[in-house]
Amino acid sequence: MSQDLFEAARAAMQHSHSPYSKFKVGAALRDENGRIHAGCNIENVAFPEGLCAEATAIAHLIMSGARQITEVAVSADRLDLVAPCGGCRQKLAEFAAPQTRVWLCNAAGPQTSFTVGELLPVAFATDSLG
Ligand code: THU
Repeated sequence: MSQDLFEAARAAMQHSHSPYSKFKVGAALRDENGRIHAGCNIENVAFPEGLCAEATAIAHLIMSGARQITEVAVSADRLDLVAPCGGCRQKLAEFAAPQTRVWLCNAAGPQTSFTVGELLPVAFATDSLG
């Protein structure tokens, strides 16, 4: 995984609004044109209204006009490695191929990776709608 995606996830993490969990998360996505879109978690006093870092990054990617996620990096400040939650696995799968790689990073850099298909096997996908 390239350094720029890792650095974008770590930089995004610094923008986290997480006064309730005090758990900062940053995510960075590469699109089909090689451009990077980043996001942080944005919590809300009405807890379920919060956004995960991955969701914020996906919103940036879509609003830029891109449609495809080709690589993902996620990082948190208080846990060595953070894996995307179940809802974010579904959100990532909407715009990524099953082979797309998701890198789990700590402060030192990317440590391990899984494909979107490994994170969300037997996904509910577009073809599920018939
Ligand atoms: N969180 C993310 O932003 N991404 C993940 O992949 C896991 C969890 C956030 C949601 C919430 O703001 C905080 O981490 C604690 O769950």
